[in-house]
Amino acid sequence: MTRSNDLNGKPQGQPQGLRLVVGGNRGIGLALVEAQLGRSDVSKVIATHRPTSDLTRLVQLKHLFGSKLHLQSLDVTSDKSMQDFGRLLARQPAGIELAIHAAGLLHDDTIKPEKSLSQCNPAHLMRMFEVNSIGPLMVASALLPTQGRDHRFTFAALSAMVGSIGDNRLGGWYGYRASKTALNQFIKTMANECRIKHPRAAIVAIHPGTTDTDLSRPFQKNVRPGKLYSPEQTAWRLLDVLESIDETRSGEFFNWDGSTIPW
Ligand SMILES: NC(=O)c1ccc[n+]([C@@H]2O[C@H](COP(=O)([O-])OP(=O)(O)OC[C@H]3O[C@@H](n4cnc5c(N)ncnc54)[C@H](OP(=O)(O)O)[C@@H]3O)[C@@H](O)[C@H]2O)c1
Repeated sequence: MTRSNDLNGKPQGQPQGLRLVVGGNRGIGLALVEAQLGRSDVSKVIATHRPTSDLTRLVQLKHLFGSKLHLQSLDVTSDKSMQDFGRLLARQPAGIELAIHAAGLLHDDTIKPEKSLSQCNPAHLMRMFEVNSIGPLMVASALLPTQGRDHRFTFAALSAMVGSIGDNRLGGWYGYRASKTALNQFIKTMANECRIKHPRAAIVAIHPGTTDTDLSRPFQKNVRPGKLYSPEQTAWRLLDVLESIDETRSGEFFNWDGSTIPW
Protein backbone atom coordinates (compact mmCIF):
# COMPACT_ATOMS: atom_id res chain seq x y z
CA MET A 1 0.00 0.00 0.00
CA THR A 2 1.25 3.47 -0.82
CA ARG A 3 1.22 5.86 2.09
CA SER A 4 1.35 9.63 1.95
CA ASN A 5 3.00 11.79 4.59
CA ASP A 6 1.13 14.39 6.60
CA LEU A 7 2.43 17.90 7.21
CA ASN A 8 4.50 16.63 10.15
CA GLY A 9 6.17 14.04 7.98
CA LYS A 10 4.37 11.12 9.62
CA PRO A 11 3.08 8.43 7.28
CA GLN A 12 -0.71 8.29 6.98
CA GLY A 13 -2.97 5.42 6.02
CA GLN A 14 -3.28 2.02 7.67
CA PRO A 15 -2.08 1.61 11.27
CA GLN A 16 1.54 0.55 11.37
CA GLY A 17 1.07 -1.90 14.19
CA LEU A 18 3.62 -0.40 16.58
CA ARG A 19 2.60 -0.92 20.18
CA LEU A 20 3.98 0.40 23.49
CA VAL A 21 3.50 -1.09 26.95
CA VAL A 22 4.90 0.84 29.91
CA GLY A 23 5.55 -1.54 32.81
CA GLY A 24 5.77 -4.56 30.52
CA ASN A 25 7.94 -6.83 32.65
CA ARG A 26 5.30 -8.35 34.93
CA GLY A 27 1.62 -8.41 35.81
CA ILE A 28 -0.95 -7.07 33.36
CA GLY A 29 1.73 -5.23 31.38
CA LEU A 30 3.64 -8.44 30.68
CA ALA A 31 0.42 -10.18 29.59
CA LEU A 32 -0.30 -7.26 27.23
CA VAL A 33 3.17 -7.62 25.73
CA GLU A 34 2.76 -11.37 25.21
CA ALA A 35 -0.75 -11.04 23.75
CA GLN A 36 0.40 -8.51 21.16
CA LEU A 37 3.67 -10.23 20.21
CA GLY A 38 1.69 -13.26 19.06
CA ARG A 39 -0.31 -11.27 16.50
CA SER A 40 0.52 -10.81 12.84
CA ASP A 41 -1.06 -7.33 12.67
CA VAL A 42 1.38 -6.05 15.28
CA SER A 43 4.74 -5.18 13.76
CA LYS A 44 6.66 -4.36 16.94
CA VAL A 45 6.11 -4.07 20.68
CA ILE A 46 8.15 -1.69 22.81
CA ALA A 47 8.06 -2.99 26.38
CA THR A 48 9.44 -0.81 29.15
CA HIS A 49 10.80 -1.99 32.49
CA ARG A 50 12.65 -0.38 35.36
CA PRO A 51 16.47 -0.74 35.56
CA THR A 52 15.85 -2.90 38.65
CA SER A 53 12.99 -4.99 37.22
CA ASP A 54 13.00 -8.78 36.98
CA LEU A 55 13.43 -9.33 33.23
CA THR A 56 13.32 -13.13 33.19
CA ARG A 57 10.20 -13.46 31.02
CA LEU A 58 10.95 -10.47 28.80
CA VAL A 59 14.39 -11.88 27.98
CA GLN A 60 12.79 -15.22 27.04
CA LEU A 61 10.34 -13.36 24.80
CA LYS A 62 13.19 -11.40 23.24
CA HIS A 63 14.87 -14.68 22.26
CA LEU A 64 11.60 -15.93 20.76
CA PHE A 65 10.53 -12.79 18.93
CA GLY A 66 13.83 -11.03 18.14
CA SER A 67 13.47 -7.51 16.74
CA LYS A 68 9.67 -7.64 17.08
CA LEU A 69 10.24 -6.89 20.77
CA HIS A 70 12.20 -3.84 21.90
CA LEU A 71 13.10 -3.63 25.59
CA GLN A 72 13.48 -0.13 26.98
CA SER A 73 14.55 0.84 30.47
CA LEU A 74 12.16 3.41 31.95
CA ASP A 75 11.55 4.52 35.51
CA VAL A 76 8.58 6.86 35.16
CA THR A 77 9.77 8.87 38.18
CA SER A 78 13.23 9.62 36.69
CA ASP A 79 13.74 12.67 34.43
CA LYS A 80 16.86 11.17 32.84
CA SER A 81 15.06 7.91 32.10
CA MET A 82 12.13 9.84 30.62
CA GLN A 83 14.45 11.81 28.32
CA ASP A 84 16.01 8.58 26.95
CA PHE A 85 12.48 7.23 26.45
CA GLY A 86 11.46 10.39 24.55
CA ARG A 87 14.43 9.96 22.22
CA LEU A 88 13.42 6.35 21.52
CA LEU A 89 9.88 7.45 20.65
CA ALA A 90 11.19 10.16 18.33
CA ARG A 91 13.06 7.44 16.39
CA GLN A 92 9.80 5.61 15.48
CA PRO A 93 8.90 7.19 12.11
CA ALA A 94 5.53 5.45 11.72
CA GLY A 95 4.27 6.54 15.12
CA ILE A 96 2.70 4.46 17.87
CA GLU A 97 -0.68 2.90 17.18
CA LEU A 98 -1.56 1.88 20.74
CA ALA A 99 0.27 2.90 23.93
CA ILE A 100 -0.80 1.34 27.21
CA HIS A 101 0.54 2.66 30.50
CA ALA A 102 0.41 -0.41 32.76
CA ALA A 103 2.91 0.67 35.43
CA GLY A 104 1.44 1.37 38.83
CA LEU A 105 1.91 1.06 42.58
CA LEU A 106 -0.41 -0.10 45.37
CA HIS A 107 2.13 -1.46 47.86
CA ASP A 108 5.83 -2.20 48.19
CA ASP A 109 8.24 -3.07 50.99
CA THR A 110 7.38 0.08 52.93
CA ILE A 111 4.07 1.33 51.50
CA LYS A 112 0.76 -0.35 52.40
CA PRO A 113 -2.73 0.92 51.48
CA GLU A 114 -4.09 3.00 54.37
CA LYS A 115 -7.07 1.50 56.21
CA SER A 116 -7.76 4.78 58.02
CA LEU A 117 -6.82 8.45 58.04
CA SER A 118 -4.44 7.85 60.95
CA GLN A 119 -2.24 5.70 58.66
CA CYS A 120 -1.72 8.42 56.03
CA ASN A 121 1.98 9.26 55.62
CA PRO A 122 2.99 12.28 53.49
CA ALA A 123 6.05 10.60 51.94
CA HIS A 124 4.03 7.51 50.99
CA LEU A 125 1.22 9.64 49.56
CA MET A 126 3.75 11.60 47.50
CA ARG A 127 5.22 8.35 46.14
CA MET A 128 1.75 7.14 45.09
CA PHE A 129 1.11 10.35 43.17
CA GLU A 130 4.60 10.26 41.67
CA VAL A 131 4.15 6.75 40.24
CA ASN A 132 0.39 6.54 39.58
CA SER A 133 -0.51 10.07 38.47
CA ILE A 134 2.56 12.07 37.42
CA GLY A 135 4.29 9.02 35.88
CA PRO A 136 1.64 8.38 33.21
CA LEU A 137 1.26 12.13 32.61
CA MET A 138 4.99 12.41 31.87
CA VAL A 139 4.88 9.32 29.65
CA ALA A 140 2.10 10.97 27.64
CA SER A 141 4.08 14.20 27.60
CA ALA A 142 7.04 12.35 26.04
CA LEU A 143 4.81 10.43 23.62
CA LEU A 144 2.37 12.99 22.24
CA PRO A 145 4.87 15.39 20.60
CA THR A 146 6.36 12.44 18.67
CA GLN A 147 3.01 11.61 17.04
CA GLY A 148 2.02 13.59 13.96
CA ARG A 149 -1.04 15.82 14.24
CA ASP A 150 -3.10 13.58 11.98
CA HIS A 151 -1.72 10.28 13.20
CA ARG A 152 -4.40 7.96 14.57
CA PHE A 153 -3.46 6.46 17.95
CA THR A 154 -4.74 5.51 21.37
CA PHE A 155 -3.07 6.28 24.69
CA ALA A 156 -4.63 4.31 27.55
CA ALA A 157 -3.64 4.46 31.20
CA LEU A 158 -4.61 1.60 33.48
CA SER A 159 -6.57 3.35 36.18
CA ALA A 160 -8.74 1.68 38.84
CA MET A 161 -12.41 1.61 39.75
CA VAL A 162 -11.43 2.80 43.25
CA GLY A 163 -10.25 6.06 41.64
CA SER A 164 -13.86 6.90 40.80
CA ILE A 165 -15.24 9.54 43.20
CA GLY A 166 -18.81 8.71 42.14
CA ASP A 167 -18.30 5.02 42.95
CA ASN A 168 -16.49 5.53 46.29
CA ARG A 169 -18.63 3.91 48.98
CA LEU A 170 -15.98 2.20 51.11
CA GLY A 171 -13.27 4.77 51.86
CA GLY A 172 -9.76 3.67 52.81
CA TRP A 173 -6.79 3.31 50.43
CA TYR A 174 -6.35 7.09 50.48
CA GLY A 175 -3.15 7.31 48.47
CA TYR A 176 -3.98 4.75 45.79
CA ARG A 177 -7.54 6.02 45.32
CA ALA A 178 -6.58 9.68 45.14
CA SER A 179 -3.60 9.04 42.85
CA LYS A 180 -5.87 7.20 40.41
CA THR A 181 -8.45 10.01 40.68
CA ALA A 182 -5.68 12.49 39.81
CA LEU A 183 -4.66 10.24 36.91
CA ASN A 184 -8.26 10.31 35.66
CA GLN A 185 -8.30 14.11 35.76
CA PHE A 186 -4.98 14.20 33.87
CA ILE A 187 -6.45 11.89 31.21
CA LYS A 188 -9.58 14.02 30.79
CA THR A 189 -7.50 17.21 30.59
CA MET A 190 -5.09 15.73 28.02
CA ALA A 191 -8.03 14.48 25.97
CA ASN A 192 -9.46 18.01 25.87
CA GLU A 193 -6.12 19.46 24.75
CA CYS A 194 -5.64 16.72 22.16
CA ARG A 195 -8.96 17.46 20.42
CA ILE A 196 -7.09 20.32 18.77
CA LYS A 197 -3.47 19.13 18.75
CA HIS A 198 -4.12 15.45 17.93
CA PRO A 199 -7.69 15.27 16.59
CA ARG A 200 -7.41 11.57 15.73
CA ALA A 201 -6.11 10.49 19.14
CA ALA A 202 -8.10 8.64 21.80
CA ILE A 203 -6.78 9.41 25.30
CA VAL A 204 -8.54 7.22 27.85
CA ALA A 205 -8.44 5.66 31.32
CA ILE A 206 -9.43 2.03 31.75
CA HIS A 207 -10.07 -0.20 34.77
CA PRO A 208 -8.64 -3.66 34.05
CA GLY A 209 -10.82 -5.62 36.48
CA THR A 210 -9.41 -7.42 39.51
CA THR A 211 -6.52 -9.41 38.12
CA ASP A 212 -4.31 -12.04 39.72
CA THR A 213 -0.99 -10.18 39.97
CA ASP A 214 1.51 -9.18 42.67
CA LEU A 215 -0.44 -5.94 43.09
CA SER A 216 -3.75 -7.58 44.05
CA ARG A 217 -2.35 -10.72 45.75
CA PRO A 218 -2.49 -9.50 49.39
CA PHE A 219 -6.15 -8.45 48.93
CA GLN A 220 -7.61 -11.35 46.97
CA LYS A 221 -9.46 -12.99 49.86
CA ASN A 222 -12.17 -10.32 49.59
CA VAL A 223 -12.75 -10.91 45.87
CA ARG A 224 -16.04 -12.63 45.03
CA PRO A 225 -15.74 -16.09 43.42
CA GLY A 226 -15.29 -15.85 39.66
CA LYS A 227 -14.33 -12.16 39.84
CA LEU A 228 -10.53 -12.61 39.89
CA TYR A 229 -9.21 -12.77 36.35
CA SER A 230 -5.92 -14.06 34.95
CA PRO A 231 -3.52 -11.49 33.46
CA GLU A 232 -4.02 -13.20 30.06
CA GLN A 233 -7.84 -12.80 30.23
CA THR A 234 -7.44 -9.19 31.28
CA ALA A 235 -4.97 -8.45 28.50
CA TRP A 236 -7.28 -9.77 25.80
CA ARG A 237 -10.26 -7.93 27.21
CA LEU A 238 -8.36 -4.65 27.43
CA LEU A 239 -7.17 -5.01 23.85
CA ASP A 240 -10.74 -5.75 22.71
CA VAL A 241 -11.93 -2.47 24.20
CA LEU A 242 -8.93 -0.34 23.25
CA GLU A 243 -8.84 -1.55 19.65
CA SER A 244 -12.55 -0.86 19.19
CA ILE A 245 -12.46 2.82 20.12
CA ASP A 246 -11.44 5.90 18.20
CA GLU A 247 -11.15 9.62 18.84
CA THR A 248 -14.92 9.94 19.40
CA ARG A 249 -14.43 8.11 22.74
CA SER A 250 -11.44 10.17 23.84
CA GLY A 251 -11.63 11.44 27.43
CA GLU A 252 -13.67 8.50 28.76
CA PHE A 253 -13.09 6.22 31.75
CA PHE A 254 -13.77 2.65 30.64
CA ASN A 255 -14.39 -0.55 32.52
CA TRP A 256 -12.74 -3.73 31.15
CA ASP A 257 -16.01 -4.74 29.45
CA GLY A 258 -16.25 -1.52 27.44
CA SER A 259 -18.89 0.14 29.65
CA THR A 260 -18.03 3.51 31.18
CA ILE A 261 -17.34 4.28 34.86
CA PRO A 262 -18.49 7.50 36.56
CA TRP A 263 -15.61 9.88 37.27
N1 LIG B 1 -4.18 -6.17 39.36
C1 LIG B 1 -5.36 -5.60 39.58
O1 LIG B 1 -6.30 -6.23 40.11
C2 LIG B 1 -5.61 -4.17 39.21
C3 LIG B 1 -6.88 -3.61 39.45
C4 LIG B 1 -7.10 -2.27 39.11
C5 LIG B 1 -6.10 -1.52 38.52
N2 LIG B 1 -4.87 -2.09 38.30
C6 LIG B 1 -3.84 -1.22 37.70
O2 LIG B 1 -3.26 -1.89 36.60
C7 LIG B 1 -1.87 -1.51 36.49
C8 LIG B 1 -1.02 -2.80 36.42
O3 LIG B 1 -1.23 -3.50 37.63
P1 LIG B 1 -0.58 -4.93 37.89
O4 LIG B 1 -1.57 -5.68 38.68
O5 LIG B 1 -0.05 -5.49 36.62
O6 LIG B 1 0.64 -4.52 38.86
P2 LIG B 1 2.03 -5.26 39.16
O7 LIG B 1 1.96 -6.70 38.81
O8 LIG B 1 2.37 -4.87 40.57
O9 LIG B 1 3.05 -4.55 38.14
C9 LIG B 1 3.34 -3.19 38.30
C10 LIG B 1 4.25 -2.76 37.19
O10 LIG B 1 4.51 -1.35 37.36
C11 LIG B 1 5.93 -1.16 37.28
N3 LIG B 1 6.36 0.03 38.02
C12 LIG B 1 6.17 0.33 39.32
N4 LIG B 1 6.76 1.49 39.61
C13 LIG B 1 7.33 1.94 38.47
C14 LIG B 1 8.11 3.07 38.11
N5 LIG B 1 8.44 4.01 39.01
N6 LIG B 1 8.52 3.21 36.82
C15 LIG B 1 8.22 2.28 35.91
N7 LIG B 1 7.51 1.17 36.17
C16 LIG B 1 7.08 1.00 37.44
C17 LIG B 1 6.50 -2.44 37.91
O11 LIG B 1 7.88 -2.56 37.63
P3 LIG B 1 8.85 -3.42 38.65
O12 LIG B 1 8.66 -4.86 38.28
O13 LIG B 1 10.19 -2.90 38.38
O14 LIG B 1 8.37 -3.13 40.05
C18 LIG B 1 5.62 -3.46 37.21
O15 LIG B 1 6.05 -3.66 35.89
C19 LIG B 1 -1.56 -0.63 37.69
O16 LIG B 1 -1.64 0.72 37.32
C20 LIG B 1 -2.68 -0.95 38.67
O17 LIG B 1 -2.97 0.15 39.52
C21 LIG B 1 -4.60 -3.38 38.63
